[in-house]
Amino acid sequence: MSVAKPLPHDSARLHVTGQATYVDDLPMQPGTLHLAFGMAQIARGRVQEMDLDAVRAAPGVVRVWTAEDLPGPCDCSASPLHDEPLLTDEVLYDGQPIFLVAATSHLAARKAARLGKITYAEETPILTIDEALAASSRFEGGPIVWEKGAPDDGIASAPRRLSGSLTMGGQEHFYLEGQAAQVTPLEAEELLVQASTQHPTEIQHKVAEALGLNMGDVRVEMRRMGGGFGGKESQGNWLAIACAVVAAATGRPARMRYDRDDDMVLTGKRHDARVDYEVGFDDDGRVLGLDVTQLIRCGWSMDLSLPVADRAMLHADSSYDLPAIRITSHRLKTNTASNTAYRGFGGPQGMLGMERIIDHIAHELGRDPVEVRRANYYAEAPPLREHGPDKPEVDDTPDTPDREAPDSFSRADEVSSGTGRGRPFAGEHSPKPKAQTTPYGMEVTDFILHEITAKLLESSDYAARKRAVAEFNTAGGALRKGLAFSPVKFGISFTLTHLNQAGALVHVYQDGSIRLNHGGTEMGQGLNQKVAQVTAARFGVEASRVRITATDTGKVPNTSATAASSGADLNGMAAANAADTIRERMAEVVAKHLQGEPEEVRFEDSRVHLGGASVSFEEAAKLTYESRVSLSASGFYKTPHLHWDRLKGQGRPFFYFAYGAAVTEVLLDTRTGENRILRTDILHDVGASLNPAIDIGQIEGAYVQGAGWLTTEELAWDGKGRLRTHAPSTYKIPACSDRPEEFNVTLHSGENRSETIYRSKAVGEPPFMLAISAFLALSNACAACGPAYPALEAPATPEHVLEAIRRARGA
Ligand code: MTE
Ligand code: MOS
Repeated sequence: MSVAKPLPHDSARLHVTGQATYVDDLPMQPGTLHLAFGMAQIARGRVQEMDLDAVRAAPGVVRVWTAEDLPGPCDCSASPLHDEPLLTDEVLYDGQPIFLVAATSHLAARKAARLGKITYAEETPILTIDEALAASSRFEGGPIVWEKGAPDDGIASAPRRLSGSLTMGGQEHFYLEGQAAQVTPLEAEELLVQASTQHPTEIQHKVAEALGLNMGDVRVEMRRMGGGFGGKESQGNWLAIACAVVAAATGRPARMRYDRDDDMVLTGKRHDARVDYEVGFDDDGRVLGLDVTQLIRCGWSMDLSLPVADRAMLHADSSYDLPAIRITSHRLKTNTASNTAYRGFGGPQGMLGMERIIDHIAHELGRDPVEVRRANYYAEAPPLREHGPDKPEVDDTPDTPDREAPDSFSRADEVSSGTGRGRPFAGEHSPKPKAQTTPYGMEVTDFILHEITAKLLESSDYAARKRAVAEFNTAGGALRKGLAFSPVKFGISFTLTHLNQAGALVHVYQDGSIRLNHGGTEMGQGLNQKVAQVTAARFGVEASRVRITATDTGKVPNTSATAASSGADLNGMAAANAADTIRERMAEVVAKHLQGEPEEVRFEDSRVHLGGASVSFEEAAKLTYESRVSLSASGFYKTPHLHWDRLKGQGRPFFYFAYGAAVTEVLLDTRTGENRILRTDILHDVGASLNPAIDIGQIEGAYVQGAGWLTTEELAWDGKGRLRTHAPSTYKIPACSDRPEEFNVTLHSGENRSETIYRSKAVGEPPFMLAISAFLALSNACAACGPAYPALEAPATPEHVLEAIRRARGA
């Protein structure tokens, strides 16, 4: 069978030989115009005067647009607020597009865009979390509060208490291919959009909306991205809409790509945040009551910030069964770039907060943090064998359409209904007796971290290495080592229920070759390869027989963003559904031919069998064609069992959880703060893997990217709201040499308890949070410098490390 094989990524060879094509590699069509934004030089205020004569006179410039020249607001927003006009006079962040230049070359457009003479009426920007809190600058009326049990009583009556705070930085996506789009005007107002986007349907929708076209008039094609990481869920809208405006106005193709510096200034990042906590616990470290406040910096527009902040709340429990908790979430509006989706989608911020709390408790008690973690874990699910093979679940998905019609197709709609004010739900619903539930009332029935933890502690030789680290540290000198374990439990599904659907289109040709299209997008994660393997497996043929094609809104319509790690879960199922339709038709034809029953037909080893007889898959295809039976089908899938009421903060937002754990050892120079990851051991749950090679690649990449977020990647804004780290010279992503010197990644094998495609599990985002162990290991090394809790801030830059060492020493 083609699934479960460690086949290479379908484009691996093209990637490494430079033959894989991206938007900016498309052959240049005659007359193509190149675009660049004129960007505001202040963080907040109004444009008073704009003299664009020099821009218009610059070499190569064909035309210049300001807000007034546009056919309408041309809103680029993915949120229901429609708060992102393509061009504007009202500046809300440094870099805001205020005019648009079309020129005959990319360089000419960029050079001209710098020549605008603009005067502003400046206002004082709101930049930091504290400034936003003080000004009550937010996207919802007040903070969102979810509550389970009686946290205040839990804290007050606990034998021990502590409080603290953790600041964590944002993160630039640093996709290797920057944002890019091209729009070609076809006949009779039809537009072809080729864009680097995780969400072709959203681009189609927003381009149509901006130009007053029907969605059917706009076709979006997307072959591959050079990375997205969440940064191309919504923020590619700007380039596609700009190109569409220019193409529609001039009748010429238009192409736009952001230069790296501009990309870093213009686009939003991971939300930086602060988590404040007060916790009550017993002598074993068991949490009895927790009050946690998440302060999330959203930037100037809403974008996807509300569902990101929701997901941070949904992961505030991390892996722990907390009897009483209050989660308060502030979604703060600031005059900075509009923060957006980034691998984990708020989950990492929520989870890091809780892991810090556990670490703090363990330090206070002088206990091994692993033991405190285990003491707080949810209870383990019964082993699969006892559990029975296919525990039938009743599809309790309400068949009624979603509460309100969607206004946009993005995840922002997760929060488009109602005031967004969460309500304490304790008492509103009485949960089933004894069931363990998350703070949002979802039953946890698939918890396997007890087993994963035990296995990983053993395979990583945790106990012996912990002793060795302690010995190393007592020996003195300037160097310290740190060792830490951290678990991951990540919820899989879009929290806006209706996004959990997908479509696919499969053709079998009369020579037995197969062409596959589905609604997901390829960004390096190997989605196309996985879906091709699924399709091939349904037909019992080799994956190499399946031709993978570009994502195309003209082939599979109304898709969701490839996000929330659900690409393979959703599109794999849809492709299997399409393949099965064709397979059933072929089975009938072959059964007739071989004089048997269609139910007895088997597709295996590239042949179609019936009893002892068989025909080749090619012959079966030809027979089917000659019988005038269709060899083409579309497939569809929707995730079952989901229901989530954001207003009540209750339900089952996730189909299942993905689990994993990591042990990281670090070495720290206490004089300079310089540090290095010596060894990382990971055991990660991918269910029954669709492709172990790709899954291991995802886990390694996610861990290193997560470690970058928590160590070297630091975004710095100056007092005027200008991003000072807008190039790799000042913004340090991990290099190849920064990955752990010893890196042991193992897949936890076991079937998903939920009925996913071949019982696999999503892998894209969950392992990102394994890097929390690297941060905790550094904190552990700082803690070896003195008696006090180091309260290390993230990212663990040398400056933050040195501060933490000083705190540990009690200075
Ligand atoms: N892997 C690569 N190589 N490049 C990417 O851009 N994006 C991540 C993850 N892995 C990404 C990646 C993010 S943010 C998500 S949500 C998932 O892939 C999306 O793909 P999937 O749903 O197919 O896992
Ligand atoms: Mo991923 S942040 O869901 O694109």
